[in-house]
Amino acid sequence: MAKANFANETVWTGDCLHVLRGMNSACVDLIYLDPPFNSNRTYEAPIGSQAAGASFKDAWTLDDVDVCEHGELADRNPAAYSVIEAARQAHGKGMQSYLIFMAVRLTELQRVLRPTGSIYLHCDTTAGHYLKLLMDSLFGRANFRTDIVWKRGSAHSDAKQGRRQHGRIHDLILYYTAGAKWTWNPVHTPYDREYVEAFYRHADESGRRYRKDNLTAAKPGGDTKYEWRVKREGSGPWKADLADEWRNPVEGWEYRGIPPYNGRYWAYSWDKMRGFALAGRLAYAKTGMPSYKRYLDEMPGVPLQDLWADIPIALGKERVGYPTQKPLALLDRIIRASSNEGDWVFDPFCGCATALVAADRLKRKWAGVDLSPLAVKLVDARIASDRGQLPWGGAVTPDAPPKRTDLGDLPNYRTHRHRLYGEQEGVCAGCDTHFPFRVMDVDHILPRAKGGTDHPDNLQLLCSGCNRSKGAKTMAEWRAAQ
Ligand SMILES: C[S@@+](CC[C@H](N)C(=O)[O-])C[C@H]1O[C@@H](n2cnc3c(N)ncnc32)[C@H](O)[C@@H]1O
Repeated sequence: MAKANFANETVWTGDCLHVLRGMNSACVDLIYLDPPFNSNRTYEAPIGSQAAGASFKDAWTLDDVDVCEHGELADRNPAAYSVIEAARQAHGKGMQSYLIFMAVRLTELQRVLRPTGSIYLHCDTTAGHYLKLLMDSLFGRANFRTDIVWKRGSAHSDAKQGRRQHGRIHDLILYYTAGAKWTWNPVHTPYDREYVEAFYRHADESGRRYRKDNLTAAKPGGDTKYEWRVKREGSGPWKADLADEWRNPVEGWEYRGIPPYNGRYWAYSWDKMRGFALAGRLAYAKTGMPSYKRYLDEMPGVPLQDLWADIPIALGKERVGYPTQKPLALLDRIIRASSNEGDWVFDPFCGCATALVAADRLKRKWAGVDLSPLAVKLVDARIASDRGQLPWGGAVTPDAPPKRTDLGDLPNYRTHRHRLYGEQEGVCAGCDTHFPFRVMDVDHILPRAKGGTDHPDNLQLLCSGCNRSKGAKTMAEWRAAQ
C-alpha cells in the first residue's frame, strides 16, 4: 500500500484536481466530498460571520471546464463518457459541463483510495441521479453500498415553485467502497420513545427497563425438551427451583414443572437456563412460564439505516457562516463507521473544514483542499478552539501540489526525447508540423506545477514556438486559448 506523500493536517488552497494528480495512488482510507451541487447559484457567506468573504460559484457552462478533459474521458472511460452524453441530451450543456468537472476529479479520487477504503459523495437531487451513474461507471456498481438520505431541513412549502410540489428537504450521500472488503464499524442510534414504551414495558426494583423475550424455540437443539421447575409460596411470584425442592415439597409452597408446550422446545439448555435464573434474568408469568429479561440499557440501539433524520443542520456556536456548511454530527457518523483511529481522511472540497475537524476529534489523520484561501483560516480557527489548551501549530499549508513518490525512480524526463520523436514521427504535438530533432522540446502535458508527473504518459514533444506559447498552461488550457 502506498504511503501518503504529504503531511498529516495539510490543507491546500487551489483546485483539488491539481492536488489529486500529485497524490500517491491508494494512500487514503476515507474520502468525503461535498462539492458544488450544480445548483445554478453563487454562494456567499454573510458579512460579519466568521466565514465572511467566502464565496463560490455553482453554475456551469462548457467554459468552466477543461475541454481536453472531455476527450480524455471519452478515451479512458467510455462508460463515464456515455453517462455524461446522456445527461447532455436529457438535461443540457450545464449538466454536461458539471459532470465533466466531477468525472475527472472522481477518476483521481478512485485512484487515491485504498483498496479497503470508502468514499461518500454528498449531493442533492439536482444531479444525484447522474452522479450515481457516474460513480457506478468509475467505482463499479458492485461497490455501491447505499445512498443515504439526509433530512437537512424541516417541512416547508417550496414558495419558489409556486407550492405545486412537495417540499425538498433532503440531501443524498452516495456511499461506495473501493472493493469487496472495506472498513466498517457498526453504528447504532437510540430507540425512539414509542418503541421503548411499546416493547420495554417492564421495570425491575431498581427501575431498569426490560423487555420479556420468549425462551422457547420451534426447533430442537441438544438439551431442550426438559421441564423447567418452578415454585412459589402462597400466591407470591414464581421462581426457579434450583435446589430441586420440587421433588421434596415444603409445606405452604406450590410446585410446577413447566414444559415448553405446543410442540416447541426450550431455546436454551437446562444449564444455560440455570445461569439465567442465578443472574436474576428470568421473569415469570402467572402460569409460572419463564421469559428472559432483556434490559434496555444493554442494547446497542437501532443499527443505523440509510435514512438520517436525526441530525439537524449546523446551529448555534458550531455555525461559522460558511455557505453550505455541514454539521459535525454528520461527519462524525460517517468517519466513525468507515475508518479507524490513525486512518487517513481526505476532503477535496473542504470548505470550512467540517470533515477535517470531525476527523481530528476522532484521532484520524486528515488532509483537505479548497479553492478558497478562507478554508485554511477556518480550519485553523476551528481546530484551535476545539483543542482548547492542547498545542496546535496550525495546518500544514504547502504552496504547491504534492509530487508523487510512488512511480519509482523515473529517469530525467529529457531522456524520453528520442523515443517521443520516433513515436510522434517528428511532428510537433502542438502545431502538427514536422520539425528537425534539435528544435523539439520535451513538454509536460499537465505541468508539474499542476500535479503533472515525469511519467512517460505525461510527456510530449513540442516545437520551441509551441512550447514557449504553452508556458505553464495545461495542454487543454493552451488549446482553448488558441
Ligand atoms: C459545498 S462547499 C463544502 C462545504 C463543506 N463540506 C463544509 O462543511 O464546510 C463546496 C466547496 O468546494 C469548494 N470548491 C469548488 N470548486 C473546487 C475545486 N475545484 N477544488 C477545490 N475546492 C473547490 C468551494 O470553495 C466550497 O468551499
